[in-house]
Parts: sequence; structure tokens; C-alpha cells
Amino acid sequence: MNKKFYITTPIYYVNARPHIGHAYTTIACDTIARRQRMLGADTYFLTGTDEHGQKIERAAEAAGKTPQEYTDEVSAQFRALWKRMGITNDDFIRTTEERHTKRVQELFRRIRDNGYIYKGTYSGQYCVFDELYVDAVEPGTPCPECGRPTETVKEENYFFKLSAFQDKLLQLYTEQPDFIRPETRRNEVMSFVRSGLRDQSISRSTFSWGIPVPDDPKHVIYVWFDALANYITAIGYGSSHEGAREAFKKYWPADVQMIGKEIVRFHCVYWPAFLMAAGLPLPKGIVAHGWLLFEESKMSKSRGNIVRTETILDVLGADALRYFLLREVVFGQDGSFSFDALVQRYNADLANGLGNLASRTLTMITRYFRGEVPYPSATVSQRAGDSAIAESARRVIAEYSTLVDQYQFSRALEVAWSLVAAVDKYIVENEPWALGEKQDEESRSRLATILYTSAEALRIVTALSHPVIPDATSRIWAQLGLGDIRQFPLSDLKWGQLQLGTKLGNVEAVFPRADKSAIERMQKMEEQQRSGATVTEAHPEASTAAAISAVAPPTAPSANAATVPVSKISIEDFAKVELRVGQVKVAEKVKGADKLLRLEVDLGTEVRQVVAGIAESYAPELLIGRKVVIVANLAPRKLRGLESNGMIVAASPEGGKAVLASFLEDVPVGTRLK
Ligand code: MSP
Repeated sequence: MNKKFYITTPIYYVNARPHIGHAYTTIACDTIARRQRMLGADTYFLTGTDEHGQKIERAAEAAGKTPQEYTDEVSAQFRALWKRMGITNDDFIRTTEERHTKRVQELFRRIRDNGYIYKGTYSGQYCVFDELYVDAVEPGTPCPECGRPTETVKEENYFFKLSAFQDKLLQLYTEQPDFIRPETRRNEVMSFVRSGLRDQSISRSTFSWGIPVPDDPKHVIYVWFDALANYITAIGYGSSHEGAREAFKKYWPADVQMIGKEIVRFHCVYWPAFLMAAGLPLPKGIVAHGWLLFEESKMSKSRGNIVRTETILDVLGADALRYFLLREVVFGQDGSFSFDALVQRYNADLANGLGNLASRTLTMITRYFRGEVPYPSATVSQRAGDSAIAESARRVIAEYSTLVDQYQFSRALEVAWSLVAAVDKYIVENEPWALGEKQDEESRSRLATILYTSAEALRIVTALSHPVIPDATSRIWAQLGLGDIRQFPLSDLKWGQLQLGTKLGNVEAVFPRADKSAIERMQKMEEQQRSGATVTEAHPEASTAAAISAVAPPTAPSANAATVPVSKISIEDFAKVELRVGQVKVAEKVKGADKLLRLEVDLGTEVRQVVAGIAESYAPELLIGRKVVIVANLAPRKLRGLESNGMIVAASPEGGKAVLASFLEDVPVGTRLK
């Protein structure tokens, strides 16, 4: 029987639209799943959406929808995107589905019956804004997430006896060193667990968008307990039907659970502890990757620096994104995304690299051998260059496989593409096009050897990289006359399998070259989306207008507290606006714009470019060194071709000059205003 292989992505929150950060994890898992299928494993690949909890409830409210309507809509966007990208997940779980909710209750019951869940009274500090119990005794201790003062609460809750698992967890990490990869994450988790584990509250009674605690529906199950359980509920754990439990029996424990580094603690401490408490087997390994950064910070909705996947799909296609992310980012570490780097990588490795090798080799076989694969001649002596290619191909097959199996995608692709470069060089040095003009037997034989060698190397790179760039490689494979690449048993791959006389399919380019306009198109599409998002997402800018009088850029309607009717906003609405103390480092006029100044403002953690409509009120040199108030989490926008990354706060009297908000006492740069 074939070996089984079960792989999962985190389930994504539906409070944000899918972006390339989510796509990154999904692509890495899809690549592994495709490779396992080619290796003959009975593969099951799960992804889905995480839809309960207060965060989602609030996002629905902000969108003016019921939580169910809202989650239906955003979850469908994730599903549609994965479909469009050709992601090969076998199932898509939503935590609001009945098959999940019932089974989560079953898991809760089981752990409670085993004595690891008890009802207790929580008394301590609580952050109302973040729905978070804060590990502190002092009333008013600031919340570690948002910095707001916590409140002392006393509340009845269900608790999970996490403290009972400290030794067992440490034993797990020690005996199964691959349980957490990479090692840096393992070390962090171990020192966290060593420092002591406290029982965790796993129910909430302050909101209702969640799964009711069995037999006590006043409480809903804590969203992380609910979410983590998806990995087993989706494959039938807790179902009352024998048939439905089959997949659980077959696939659990998972072989790989891939996550981003920020959710390591939930997956490497809570998740195995829940499973131990339920008496269930543990996953074989949790693999954490780093963050995808855009403009130096983690892509996130609140920072407004999200890059949509659709933009890249529209312009360059899914293969380009897949290749870029796996080649450019060292797996496990943070990596930067930029449109420039994407296009550069695409042109260098795909259009000029693999694509060019394919079209060159296959076109010459079509032209000189009527589209049938020729075979290296036995009569004409082989040259060292021919066997060197065969040798490197053998080495590449071995190295590539080892590296991919250790999740070193970038190194693996680098190794595979070294073969592309070697064959390119080999073709240039051997000038098959010159031999093609000659009819003597020796030239024909040499030509046959060169083209066979090139085509065979092409076949090998194509087979190896299929899980990474499935679309283009399927097409190259068909052009090589080899049928459906997904049926190729990857474990058999070796040099020399390409058969003499194989009839090529229609030869056509798979990666058209991209020029500068591709970058511009993508940037423009993103800008349009961002400015569109300002309107539809009830952006902080809108609420700021009523709360503070700000110097808005000339393109935005000017906000004036005296004339704009003020609707009441909640403290939560106000808290969405991140106001910080900044210090002006550079100030200069913007050419061709009388009202604008370009400022560089130090926010303590970074220096931001802000374009402000205050040129008529302040001479630039007077601003240098001045401390100002900046709206730090405003989506970037372009003004006169300059990106403005934040807004400077000022009073704007009707018909008068703007007056910058400032401080009488000195205050450190970067301090948050609340
Ligand atoms: N719902 C939880 C996970 C529950 S799993 C039982 C959650 N969701 S999330 O929508 O915030 O998605 C987090 C995951 O999405 C990350 O762990 C990572 O896999 C992926 N990423 C989201 N943004 C990312 C980047 N900017 N960079 C890399 N990965 C990113 O946490």
C-alpha cells in the first residue's frame, strides 16, 4: 500500500481579504502536496478559514453585515482564489460548518471527561479591547498587545489544565527534535515551556460568535481551541458516523503542519497539549516559515501594505508568483516582496532561463529532426561536455530532492537552475544551429547528441520543478511529447529515460518576457485597489475626519470639525487610528505643487516619507527638528508621484492657515497618542 501524507495550512482569518502572505503558505504546502503525489504518496492536503471570535464579529459589524453573511463572503474569496491559482487542496474547512462545530464540542467533551477542563473563576487583569487575559496582578497594567490599561475582572470560565503538560511537552521536543522546525523556533518554544505553563481559559462569555460549550451554552469555546481542532475535524474526528471517521484513521497524525512564525506557540504548545489531553496522536512535525515583508514591514491589513495575489496573477500568472516566493525567500526566514524583484526574477530564471531553454531545444528538434527526439550517436565520439551535463543532471536530481525534503526550496531551485545555466552554456559552445546547416553524417550525429542532451536535461528540470511551477511545466512536458506530467513517478527520475523517436507536441513559448510596463501595471492596480479600499473599508481616515481636524492632502476632501457633522464613534473606532509622535528630519517643497511639502519623519522605529498640504503655512526649513503628530497606519497613497506614508495632524481653520499639532512638554519620538 502507498504511504499516506497529510499536510495542512493554518486556517485563515476572514477579517481580511486574502493576500500574498496567505498565498505564500498555501503555495509552499501545495508544492509539497504535488511533490508527494508525484512520489506516489496517498496525499491529503487541507486548508480553510477560521471564522469565529470577537475579531470576526467586529469586522462583520464594521462591514455592516451579519457575521454569517460576512464570513460566507470572505471565505468564498479565499476558496475562489485558491481555485484560480490551481491549488490542489483536497478539502476546504470552514469553522462555521456543522461538521466542524459538532466535532469541536466532541473534542471539548472528551478532554473534559479526561479531567483536563475545569470550571473556575478567573480573577485578574483583562484587556477589554483585545479580549485578552493579561498575566499581571497590578490593576491597570498595560495590555501587552495594545498598551491600554487593563481592568480587574472576576469571571467564571472553563480552564484547560495546560500546567499538567509541561514535562510531557518538554519530553516531546527532546525525543522528537523534528517536531518543531526550524531549530530556532524549537529553542524559543522550549525556553517558553521551561519557564512554566499556567492553565488557560478556554471559554468566553462576553460575546456569542463562537461554538457553545457543551451543556453550558452561555459560554463559547475559545477561538484557538476551535480553530486548531480543524486539523482533525475536517478528516472526520468526532463524527458519529463510522464512514466519516475513516479518513481520520487513515491520515491522522498529520505529516506536516505548516504555519507562519507568529502562531508557533499555539501550534507547538497548546495544540499538542490538547491532543495529549484527548489521548490522540500528535502531528509528526510543525514547520514554521518567516514573514513576507512589503516595504520593510509584515504585510497586514492594519498597516495597509497588503499586496493582492490577483494583481500578480493578472499580469504574470501563478507560476511566476510561486517560483518567486519559493526561490527568493529563504524558507524559515523573513523575505521581502517587491514588484521589481518579482519581474527581475521572472525574466532571469523563467523567461530567459527555463522558457528559453525549452523553446530553443524543442524548436531545433522540430526543425532539424522533424519533431522527433534524436538519440546520441554511438558511432561519433562523445565529447566531455555531453557527459558533464549528464553528470550534473544526476547530481541535481539527488541534491534537489534532499533539499526540498528539508523545505529548503530556495537552495533546491538554485541547484536545479544551475543545470539550466549549464545546458545554456553547452548549447552556446556547441552551436547546434551551425551543425544544423550541414548534412554530413558526423555533423548530424553531433547535432543529435547535443539536442538529445539538452532535451533530456530540460525534461529533468521540468519534472523536478513541476510541483513549484505546475502550469508551465505541464506544458513543456506535453511539448516534449510525454503526456500528463502528474502521472510521472518522480522517484524513478533518472538520466537517459527520454526515448528515441518521441514525437514532440506543438512547440510554443511558455514564459513570454516581461518588460517595465509589467511593473507599472501591477503597481497601478495595487494603488487603485488601495484607494478603492479607503472608500469601502470604512478606513480610519474617514473617522479621523470627525475626530480631529487634519490637513488632508489636496486630493482628499478637506476635513473641518466645524462644518462636518460629527457622528459619535466608539473608543474602538478611535483606537484604530495609530497616532504617533514623529520628528521632521527633512522638509522640502514638491516641484510643481504649491501646497505640498515632502517630509521625512522619524517615528522612532523607521523614517517615513509624508507628503503634506502645508506648504502655504510653513516654510520647510522651519519644520526641521520639529515634533509633530502623525497618523501612522494610514494606507500609503501617491501624490504628485510621491508616496505619502502617513498624515501629519494639524488644525485647519476655515480660510486660514494650517496649524500643526504640537507639544508643550518634550515627548519621545514614536510615543503613541491615545
Ligand atoms: N486563524 C489563525 C490561524 C489558525 S490555525 C489553526 C491565523 N490566521 S491568519 O489569517 O492571520 O493567517 C496566519 C497565517 O497566514 C500565517 O501563519 C501565515 O501562514 C500566513 N500569513 C499571513 N500573512 C503573512 C505574511 N505577511 N507573511 C507570511 N505569511 C503570512 O493566524
